[in-house]
Amino acid sequence: MTLQKSPRELASHSAFAPAAASERAGPRTGPRTGPRTGLAPCVALIGCDGSGKSTLASDLVALLNREAPTRSMYLGLGTGDLGRRIGGIPLIGRIAERFLTGKASKAHEGHAVSGRNIKEKRLPGLATALAMFGFSLARYRRFRQVLGYRRQGVQVITDRYPQAEVPGSFDGPGLSWARKGSALVERLAQRERALYEDMASYRPTLVIRLNVDVDTALARKSDHQRAMLEKKIAVVPTLRFGGAQIVDVDATRPYHDVLEGIRAVLRRHGMPS
Ligand SMILES: Nc1ncnc2c1ncn2[C@@H]1O[C@H](COP(=O)(O)OP(=O)(O)OP(=O)(O)O)[C@@H](O)[C@H]1O
Ligand SMILES: [Mg+2]
Repeated sequence: MTLQKSPRELASHSAFAPAAASERAGPRTGPRTGPRTGLAPCVALIGCDGSGKSTLASDLVALLNREAPTRSMYLGLGTGDLGRRIGGIPLIGRIAERFLTGKASKAHEGHAVSGRNIKEKRLPGLATALAMFGFSLARYRRFRQVLGYRRQGVQVITDRYPQAEVPGSFDGPGLSWARKGSALVERLAQRERALYEDMASYRPTLVIRLNVDVDTALARKSDHQRAMLEKKIAVVPTLRFGGAQIVDVDATRPYHDVLEGIRAVLRRHGMPS
């Protein structure tokens, strides 16, 4: 899978219109309707691994915080980093990492069950599903913290942002709700989907989409798998984040240029730094 447009082309089509007033996304499937106003701005940094989200989040918070109270929050799962940290443990690390990576990719890709050329992708077993659900709950708790800050008037820069559009490893639900599995795991998948729909119903004020090509991403994250990075690069431009305003940034440019470009965008949106 390859990127349809280069990071530079994506950035050149970027819109710079003022942010929409409503923070709540359009019609949702869940029953709850929440407050539509009274939230401080939230800027979501999204992009493939290696696009610079964490580095930029940290620098932007330091700069913005000089003008107005600002926090950053990591809204990813951290499972990839956890696997890599475990991999660093002497002797058992590599084996444990391989086991976890195998479980995770099986859960995301599904099991191919062949029978008369029909391949059905299935939900994982209960233990893996519970672990994935646990990570999603932890993300949900951090998301509620973000809302808490925003209600107190603290603006937030998020490193990643949950979405309910695509299941799998793109900051969406880990368990693919449309797949079959045991009754318990199917219920967990539905429950997890509801968590993501709730989070996604809060639209960020602005999404900064950091575009990189796979070679740049791999150069910055040499321990990552090329195929997974390619998949992420293909999916990232398709995510809509409930119709939030999205600004495309060519994140292959030198770091200082990327940072200054984003600061200029934020200034235009009333967030001086
Ligand atoms: N524009 C840039 N030019 C050169 N190097 C960069 C640029 N942006 C980030 N980097 C470097 O690339 C590396 C990866 O950046 P970072 O960890 O911030 O990416 P990330 O998007 O948070 O990745 P992940 O999704 O894996 O957490 C870091 O060493 C960072 O300093
Ligand atoms: Mg990061």
